[in-house]
Amino acid sequence: MKYFLSLLLTLPLAAEDKVPPPGEQPFKTNCAACHMLASDVVGPSLVSLAKTYPKAKQGEFVAWAKAPGKKNTNMIQMPSMAHVPDADLAKIHDYLLSTADGVKEKSGKELYPKFKEPKRPLPYVVRASMPDSSPASVGVILENGLSVCWDTEACRFRYAYVGNKTNLFNIWKPASLPNKPFYVESSDVLIHSATSDDKKGSFFPITAKPRFRGYRLIDRNPEFHYSLGGFEIREQVGTGGSGGTIKRQFTISHLDRSIQLDLSSKGNAIVSSDKGTIKDGKLSLTAAEAKSFTLTLTKK
Ligand code: HEC
Repeated sequence: MKYFLSLLLTLPLAAEDKVPPPGEQPFKTNCAACHMLASDVVGPSLVSLAKTYPKAKQGEFVAWAKAPGKKNTNMIQMPSMAHVPDADLAKIHDYLLSTADGVKEKSGKELYPKFKEPKRPLPYVVRASMPDSSPASVGVILENGLSVCWDTEACRFRYAYVGNKTNLFNIWKPASLPNKPFYVESSDVLIHSATSDDKKGSFFPITAKPRFRGYRLIDRNPEFHYSLGGFEIREQVGTGGSGGTIKRQFTISHLDRSIQLDLSSKGNAIVSSDKGTIKDGKLSLTAAEAKSFTLTLTKK
């Protein structure tokens, strides 16, 4: 006994504010696995328990814990807590009343809160699975309220749409677009090559499989790089400055002949080029012009 006392006396005294509330430990041991603070997971939240069992109903609370009933059909049967002494159950009740005080119930019954899109400065680029494109797509979210889908599998610009809200993070299914695209590139093959450097010559589609080389950011705008046949093609996507326009700056190297871009499209946009001539939706460029040219898409 003497030894026991001296042991007690030599125990350091915990600072007043570090003493956990008396109900905390028995709560953690017996109840915490199923009762979360503010959301219904297995059992009702502490916030909801506190509502149903205010201080005046401590007796009922203890009675329930020892002999739980069945109220919520969507929840499992709560096991009896009869092994926990009444005094501890009362302390648990006091503990949850003070813990839940002033806390708001989380809306919804979800275990995981809904994904919230982080706020990011525009423009930004996000890898995503997008509709009507390959799963290896890149969303380009521009600062003028327009967005672009660029397909890194097919190595081409797929479409442009209005909206800079992306819901591009769902890995289970392609993202849904906020609006139908106003411009969809519809040609089977974008780039056609001439047999010689002669604009009037005949063009044939380059059906070689393009190889995606990656992209880099220039002032946060992506420049996509791919090889096609013997050419190296870079396409930088950004806003055209004014309202509803998108700029696509191309540079093509190792080119020794004229090319033609089949700009057939669906939707409601006007396409113009700073080089070459567009006729019937086809842009013809000499080898020199094709080294560097810019397409502008304007939403009608
Ligand atoms: C294994 C999971 C589990 C554990 C552990 C558990 N509960 Fe529950 N509890 C439930 C579930 C599930 C319900 C809802 C049952 C229903 O409504 O049919 C519930 C309901 C309650 C209710 C009644 C709420 C109401 O609406 O009337 C009280 C009170 C309660 N629990 C207290 C406790 C206390 C105190 C402990 C710890 C000593 C504890 N529970 C431990 C799962 C659990």
